[in-house]
Amino acid sequence: MTEPKNELFSRPKPRHIGIIMDGNGRWAKARMLPRMAGHRAGTDNIRRVIDACIEFGIEFVTVYAFSTENWKRPSDEVQGLMQLLSEMLDDRIGELHEKGVRLLHIGRLEQLDALTREKIKNALELTRNNKTITLIIAWNYGGRDEVVAAVQKMLRDQVKPDDVDEKLLSSYMFTSGIPDPDLMIRTSGEMRTSNFLLWQSAYAEWFFTDTLWPDFDRESLRQALESYASRERRFGKRKPEDEKQQYAG
Ligand code: IPE
Ligand code: IPE
Ligand code: MG
Repeated sequence: MTEPKNELFSRPKPRHIGIIMDGNGRWAKARMLPRMAGHRAGTDNIRRVIDACIEFGIEFVTVYAFSTENWKRPSDEVQGLMQLLSEMLDDRIGELHEKGVRLLHIGRLEQLDALTREKIKNALELTRNNKTITLIIAWNYGGRDEVVAAVQKMLRDQVKPDDVDEKLLSSYMFTSGIPDPDLMIRTSGEMRTSNFLLWQSAYAEWFFTDTLWPDFDRESLRQALESYASRERRFGKRKPEDEKQQYAG
């Protein structure tokens, strides 16, 4: 397939981008607003970034919205975040559907209340045949928990030890069928994975920016894509120009 001509950023571009949307609290604090105002601005920003991803022709975007560790936050914040997810599923799903966004979820649904689970299920069902872009919401997601869930499922399926390989394990992950992320972005200046896509990001390129998530816009994404295009992904091999080189001695 020939790529459409696009002068917005250099090639190659990632197929799948993972985003750790961090810094909502600090964004609110800098404005002397309650933390929830930061989370609200952060949630609104998903729309803006998805529009930019569509414009740039990205196929898959996974956003880290609630980690298995985020349950350790004060209960009013956890409740507020659950409420925001619920509102997003009520108010934004029509618009996402119209844009052709296919919604997927990764993480454990069991610990969410029945109504939220139902809303997620309906949103996935409504958008399942959409083709413009796939937006994967990581909610109650943890990379270690995902490995635990995969092992539990394999044992339940009575998988034989000798049948376990990387391909099989991948198929037991929440992300089964989704290509691994090529580019991982973390906002707000923190430089850690915080348990996000541990298995899948083994060979992803990372982009860290000090920009707080609610301020991360189209131009910030374009810069991340420029940075990605300048990287050389070797996957453990030698540089292509070194492959043919003969070394004396
Ligand atoms: C990210 O923003 C959103 C979630 C983790 C749910 P934070 O709430 O972590 O914001 P900071 O890191 O405190 O600024
Ligand atoms: C990671 O951010 C989780 C999400 C963005 C959902 P955190 O703010 O929770 O991560 P730590 O605690 O700084 O590692
Ligand atoms: Mg944070």
